[in-house]
Amino acid sequence: MMIKNQSALSTTRLKLVPLGPEHREFTMQLDMNPEVMKYVAFGRPFTREEAIQVHDWLLNSATSIPGLGTWVGFANGEFVGWWILAAIPSKENPEIFIANKTEYGFRLLPKFWGQGYAKEGAREMVRHAFQDLGMTEVIGETMAINQACRAVMAACGLKHVNTFFNKYDTPPPGIEEGEVRYSIAKEEWLALGS
Ligand SMILES: CC(C)(COP(=O)(O)OP(=O)(O)OC[C@H]1O[C@@H](n2cnc3c(N)ncnc32)[C@H](O)[C@@H]1OP(=O)(O)O)[C@@H](O)C(=O)NCCC(=O)NCCS
Repeated sequence: MMIKNQSALSTTRLKLVPLGPEHREFTMQLDMNPEVMKYVAFGRPFTREEAIQVHDWLLNSATSIPGLGTWVGFANGEFVGWWILAAIPSKENPEIFIANKTEYGFRLLPKFWGQGYAKEGAREMVRHAFQDLGMTEVIGETMAINQACRAVMAACGLKHVNTFFNKYDTPPPGIEEGEVRYSIAKEEWLALGS
C-alpha cells in the first residue's frame, strides 16, 4: 500500500505539487531530452520504456519515509521541472531507510535553465527537510563535471565532502572525473539564517 504524506509547497515563483500519475508526460519529457540527461544515469536520453520506469520510481520515492517524495514545479502554470527529497537506504540493509537523512535532486527543462529556478526549488527542499520534516542532514550527489548542479548545491549551502569513483557497466562520458557528494547538517543550515 502506498503511504503518502507529502505537502504541497511553494516559493516566490514556483508552485511545487506532489508528483502524481497525471504528471507522467512531464517527467518523461525531461528523461527523453539529450541535453537534460547529459550528466545523468547513462549520459544519454532514456527510451520511452525507461522513462516510464523512472516515473514509477519517482512516484515510489513518496512511499519510504512519510513526507519525502518528488515535487513537480510550475511557474505561471507552465511545467518547469522536478525536485526530489529521496530516502537513503542504510548500508547494512538496503531495504531499511535512514530516518533522518535525505538526498535531494532536481531536473529542469532547458528553456528554464539559468533563471534561478533550480536554486529556488532546491532551497525550498532543504528548508522543508529541516524545518518541517525534522531531518538532520541533506546530501546531494552528481558527476564531478556537472558544474550547474554543483553550483545549485553550493548556493543552498551544501559543502563538497568527497569525490568517489564507482564502476558502472555503461558509464556516462565524463565519469572518469568521478562523482561528488555535497552535504549540509541542520545546525549549519540554521547558522546560515535562511
Ligand atoms: C542543474 C540544473 C537543474 C540547473 O538549473 P538552473 O535553473 O539553470 O540553475 P539556476 O539558474 O538556479 O542556477 C543556480 C546556480 O548554478 C549556476 N549555473 C547554472 N548553470 C550552470 C552551468 N552550466 N555551469 C556553471 N554554473 C551554472 C548559476 O550561475 C547559479 O549560480 P549562482 O548561485 O552562483 O548564481 C539544470 O541545468 C538541469 O536540469 N540539468 C539537467 C539535469 C541535471 O544535471 N540535474 C542535476 C543532476 S544531479
